[in-house]
Amino acid sequence: MANSLGKLTKHKFLMMSKDLVSSLPHTQKMTKESFCSLLNRYGRIVVKPSSGSGGVGVMQIISMGKRRYAVHYGKYQKTIQGLLPTYQFAQSKAKGLYLAQQGIKLAKINGRPFDLRVMVQRKRNSEWVVTGILAKVAGSGFFITNIVESKGKALPLRTAVQQASIRRASYDKINQQIHRLALQTVYRLQKYYRIRTVGIDMGIDEQGKVWIIEANFSPDKTYFRRLKDKTMYRRIMSYYYGSR
Ligand SMILES: Nc1ncnc2c1ncn2[C@@H]1O[C@H](COP(=O)(O)OP(=O)(O)O)[C@@H](O)[C@H]1O
Ligand SMILES: [Mg+2]
Repeated sequence: MANSLGKLTKHKFLMMSKDLVSSLPHTQKMTKESFCSLLNRYGRIVVKPSSGSGGVGVMQIISMGKRRYAVHYGKYQKTIQGLLPTYQFAQSKAKGLYLAQQGIKLAKINGRPFDLRVMVQRKRNSEWVVTGILAKVAGSGFFITNIVESKGKALPLRTAVQQASIRRASYDKINQQIHRLALQTVYRLQKYYRIRTVGIDMGIDEQGKVWIIEANFSPDKTYFRRLKDKTMYRRIMSYYYGSR
């Protein structure tokens, strides 16, 4: 069994699955070279601690043209001139192992980006089941969607997809993609980790394509208590306590 719970290690394991490769944002250990080449290539990157949680230390950098870069960090935003000074600024905030990742242009609701929390669980001696999906909408001024850090809110998937700026994809198609990716993610990770409850962060981009952002092994189950309908919350808790 693998003993590293870092995002970089999990990402490497997921990349070995040919069914998942095209849904994983390009990710590398953050160095001057990877930072600059990913930002040149994608025009948008996110840098974050490999073993962070709750959205702490996550920074987004967007290329604005004419060698200007918009840096977004918590509620704080600024523009920096030049790629190297932008890297130096990001590096000055980075403690410990950081990764640089292709940024996903997340779909928005009323101008606020959102992503998804997908719970996949199994009871002892039974199959994996997707027990809950919800959308996390970023709080005002944030690009991260972590509910506590950004004071964001939770919505049912169907409501989010209906209200979002997504072109070309229906709720059914998105829901199908989410289920397929969620199950393939845990099938792959269970080869390396002893797991029964996984909370996967997924993003939907403006074209309706679903991306895997990260897989958490100790996910916050109270997210689902925020939905008016408590069905998913109850199912998640019953799987959780039934799995020991
Ligand atoms: N590659 C990315 N593209 C767009 N948004 C991202 C990306 N990575 C992270 N985010 C945003 O930042 C949030 C926190 O990042 P995440 O990787 O889940 O770390 P944490 O462990 O802190 O939750 C995500 O839920 C998402 O809203
Ligand atoms: Mg997360």
